[in-house]
Amino acid sequence: MRHDLLTLLRCPFCGTQPSLINNNSLVQESNHVESGVLGCACCAFPVVAGIPVMVTNETTTKAMHELEAGHPEAAFLSLLELDKTRTTAFRKLLQQDKPITYRQAVDILSSDEEGTYFFYRFTDPTYLLAKALLETISQESPLTAGMTLDLCGGSGHLTRVMTSSKPTKGVVLADKAFWKLWLATHFVAPECNPVCCDANQPLPFPRETFSMVTLSDAFSYIWQKRLLSEEMMRICEPAGAIVIPHVHNALGENFSAGLPLEPAAYQELLSPCNPHLFSDRTLLNDFLKCNTLDLKRNLTPETIGREPSLTIVATQQQSLFREYSLTQTDAVTGSLQVNPLYRVTRQGNTSVLTLTFPTPEYEEEFRACQQYLKDTVTVNADLTNPISLEELGSDAKDLMRRYILIDAPPHYY
Ligand SMILES: C[S@@+](CC[C@H](N)C(=O)[O-])C[C@H]1O[C@@H](n2cnc3c(N)ncnc32)[C@H](O)[C@@H]1O
Ligand SMILES: [Zn+2]
Repeated sequence: MRHDLLTLLRCPFCGTQPSLINNNSLVQESNHVESGVLGCACCAFPVVAGIPVMVTNETTTKAMHELEAGHPEAAFLSLLELDKTRTTAFRKLLQQDKPITYRQAVDILSSDEEGTYFFYRFTDPTYLLAKALLETISQESPLTAGMTLDLCGGSGHLTRVMTSSKPTKGVVLADKAFWKLWLATHFVAPECNPVCCDANQPLPFPRETFSMVTLSDAFSYIWQKRLLSEEMMRICEPAGAIVIPHVHNALGENFSAGLPLEPAAYQELLSPCNPHLFSDRTLLNDFLKCNTLDLKRNLTPETIGREPSLTIVATQQQSLFREYSLTQTDAVTGSLQVNPLYRVTRQGNTSVLTLTFPTPEYEEEFRACQQYLKDTVTVNADLTNPISLEELGSDAKDLMRRYILIDAPPHYY
């Protein structure tokens, strides 16, 4: 945790700014706090592995006692909330000689199919659409002026988009799952400021802090939608924007539907902030076919009808609601890797890639990716070894545009 992030934190319950308690749990170096305890007017919160945990429950109390007893590793393992077998496996992984990968870590840290969703996140249709929207809108004034919050941001796939594209004062990644924040800081978005907090409670930030608040593929899983809507509006600057890609529609069919509302209800919750509703299906179609994003097309709840999901942008900046022509960047910020959805076999000097879904459930949920991912692809290069940009030459850009190669964080898999 950056030391100066302290000025941005508020206790979710009493609202006061917590400060670091100077006891033997405190480990800090110049502007970085690795571990310690934060105290506010009403309670205390642990900072573990550089992540402030603004949650009060049995696990965080246990972690705080472990910190105070001088056992930061024990506090770290407690917050990961693993059973015995997975704790042993994770300890072993951390001790291995070669660098660990995101895939190895997520396989242990996630107890269910969420790990699959995260590992393959970089090319699924909801990610591609959210990425295009966030990349575009975050470049717009006045959103460039302030900090960004990626709320319920998981292990940081979209946070990475914003830390690499936005000329920003910083990006805060908030999620209730400590293990996801650790994956983000360790692999996916090392430049983000992680904060562990529960979006069903008041958010641990002061009024008007962020120029952009984004909540992707998560609103449907929040019970306290009314509280969260008010909270997002409180912490967003008056000239800022609340961007909510992929929210489930209670009138449509969805996998892992959560607790969705009807489009009119989402609109009502954000009504003081000028919410515009967009059809995910139309946005994705335009993006894939014409490389455009039409934010002029504000739909009524009736027009959204029974479409499974929608995107909401709420802002008083009317100028943001226009049509954007997108430019796909070819810059590589991490390392070029074969999209893990492809199985690669080498045949002489060529590589044959076959689209292979990890599970039948994944195939069913993200079937729309077949609009842009070909079943088989032959590439005149050896893709079974680390990819050489020299060998691929101008083909690299083309393969990236077709999502056959991805710009993955180092040590992703
Ligand atoms: C489907 S994932 C989406 C992750 C990320 N926003 C993305 O689009 O890649 C939903 C995320 O919401 C988080 N989440 C769910 N309920 C939450 C809560 N009450 N407080 C904070 N985060 C929550 C989950 O931990 C998970 O990371
Ligand atoms: Zn407090």
